[in-house]
Amino acid sequence: MSSPTPEANILLVDDLQENLIALEALIRGPGRRIFTARSGDDALSLMLEHPFALAILDVQMPSMNGFELAELMRGTERTRTIPIVFVSAAGRELNYAFQGYESGAVDFLYKPLDPHAVRSKVSVFVDLFRQRQELQEAQVQLQRAVAMRDDFMSMIAHELRNPLNSVYLQAQLRRKMLSSPKAPDTQAMQKMVERDERQIRSMVRLLDDMLDVSRARTGKLAIVPAEFDLAASAQAVVEAIQEQANATGVQLTLAAPESLRIVGDEFRIEQVITNLLTNALRYGGGKPVVVTVGLRDDLREAFVSVRDQGMGIAPADQERIFEQFERTEGAAQVAGLGLGLYIARQIAQAHQGRLEVRSTVGQGSEFILSLPLPAPASPA
Ligand SMILES: Nc1ncnc2c1ncn2[C@@H]1O[C@H](COP(=O)(O)OP(=O)(O)O)[C@@H](O)[C@H]1O
Ligand SMILES: [Mg+2]
Repeated sequence: MSSPTPEANILLVDDLQENLIALEALIRGPGRRIFTARSGDDALSLMLEHPFALAILDVQMPSMNGFELAELMRGTERTRTIPIVFVSAAGRELNYAFQGYESGAVDFLYKPLDPHAVRSKVSVFVDLFRQRQELQEAQVQLQRAVAMRDDFMSMIAHELRNPLNSVYLQAQLRRKMLSSPKAPDTQAMQKMVERDERQIRSMVRLLDDMLDVSRARTGKLAIVPAEFDLAASAQAVVEAIQEQANATGVQLTLAAPESLRIVGDEFRIEQVITNLLTNALRYGGGKPVVVTVGLRDDLREAFVSVRDQGMGIAPADQERIFEQFERTEGAAQVAGLGLGLYIARQIAQAHQGRLEVRSTVGQGSEFILSLPLPAPASPA
């Protein structure tokens, strides 16, 4: 994402109003903001207030001339790097040029002004300014990306280390059991295998999430659309998670119509509902969770809502949590990478749909996935 090009501010300094007007008319253009000053003092105070891509200084001014102003500019941190173009009367340039370069001048324009020369010189400086801004922007983004990568590596390492370690310990235990002269306890073995499977599944899920994130970032999160029954999908997800809910004593209910046919990627939509339900169980404080599937006929939309009565999400966090790695303080005790909602929203958007949250802290959260209905067959 690149931000729009910033305006390039240009400062014109001349003691004669008519010169300012003429010059301004020459160099006005889109993306440029022109400031004018009638004296060196006015110019300096403007320069302390605004960043400038360029200052065009008349050399001959009463009280403070252009060169004196330039010298003051060079002596102040904020104005030191502003490029300067002096405007001087042709014929006297030799002396002036020398002085000008000494005070750090960048360029000269000679009176009578040649409109073409003025315009092209200004364009060069404006382009330079823009390039510098873009470079700075790119550098900031790069630094952010590097920091994010480092965070990511350590989070992944943490998230994988515990389950891997536990699978390894279980394997060692089984090896011991198998090499002991006693007959292996198949029931205990069975339990261990199930635990391994759970751990391995959660690691695979984690890696799948990482793959999805990189796919979403490169625009390759593939959606394979087909007609399917959204109500049946929600039902399937609820059933798959019911066991987990029972184990933690959470009452999980589904309210859905008999059938609700839409067009989309069934596998991806189920992934979104699974993510929302998993969150509701993790952050729902053990209270009941309700899944609702329905139709908003006026908007030609289908929706799936997942509502819990848990900790809730503060208004300041309600957008942030849809970004990569963003989690709330309240979630800190629960392990997680903060990728689920990011992926879920990418999937919703790939369907031309939306994923939104409504929440009140301490009362619970509702996540709503909205998906467009297929266009009605047009009457022949
Ligand atoms: N139902 C919910 N109730 C309260 N907070 C939630 C809920 N769902 C998500 N969140 C917050 O949003 C964050 C991001 O969620 P998610 O992207 O699924 O990542 P993860 O669950 O791995 O932290 C969570 O860490 C939590 O702070
Ligand atoms: Mg999650």
